[in-house]
Amino acid sequence: MNTVLKRAALAIVASVSISSAAAAAGSAEDAIKYRNRVMDAMAAHYGTLMLLLFDKVEGSQFTQSHADALANASAELSVLFPEYSKDGDTEALPAIWENPDAFAQAVDKAQKTAVDLQAAIAADDRKATLSAAAAVGKSCKGCHETYRAEED
Ligand code: HEC
Repeated sequence: MNTVLKRAALAIVASVSISSAAAAAGSAEDAIKYRNRVMDAMAAHYGTLMLLLFDKVEGSQFTQSHADALANASAELSVLFPEYSKDGDTEALPAIWENPDAFAQAVDKAQKTAVDLQAAIAADDRKATLSAAAAVGKSCKGCHETYRAEED
C-alpha cells in the first residue's frame, strides 16, 4: 500500500473508533433530547396527515410521504429508551424500565399501526386508511397514558 492510501485507511479507522466511543458515552440529556425530538416529529407527521386525510388543506400528493416518515420515526421507538435515560428532565415513567416486556409490546403495537397506515395509504384504501389512522392515534395515547407522566 502506498503512503497516501495508508494514511487514508488510518484516518478512516480513527474516525470510526471516535464515533463509536462517542456513542458508548451517550449522556442521559442527549438521549432524552433525541427521544423528544423524534416524538415531536411523529406528532408533526401525524397532525399533518390528519389535515391531509380530511381534506382540510391542499397537498394530498404529500400524504404518502408523511405516512412514510411517521412509519420511519416509529421504527426509532425501539432505540429511544436506553436505561441510562431514565433520570433527568423527562416525563418518561420508571414503568418503562421496570416492565421492559410490556413496554416492548407497546412499541411493537405502535410500529405496526404506523406500518398499517403507510400500507393503507399506498393501497389507496380509504376505509383501511381511516381505521389505521385511528389505531395510530390510539397507540400514541395508550402509551402516553401508561408510560408518560401527565403534563403540568
Ligand atoms: C411506546 C410508547 C410511546 C408511543 C407509542 C408514543 N409515545 Fe410519545 N412519548 C412517550 C413518552 C414516554 C414520552 C415522554 C418522553 C420524555 O419526556 O422523555 C413521550 C413524549 C411525547 C411528546 C412530547 C415531546 C416533547 O418535546 O416534550 C409528544 C409530542 C409525543 N410523545 C407524541 C407522540 C405521538 C404523536 C405518538 C404516536 C404517533 C407517540 N408520541 C407515540 C411514549 C410514547
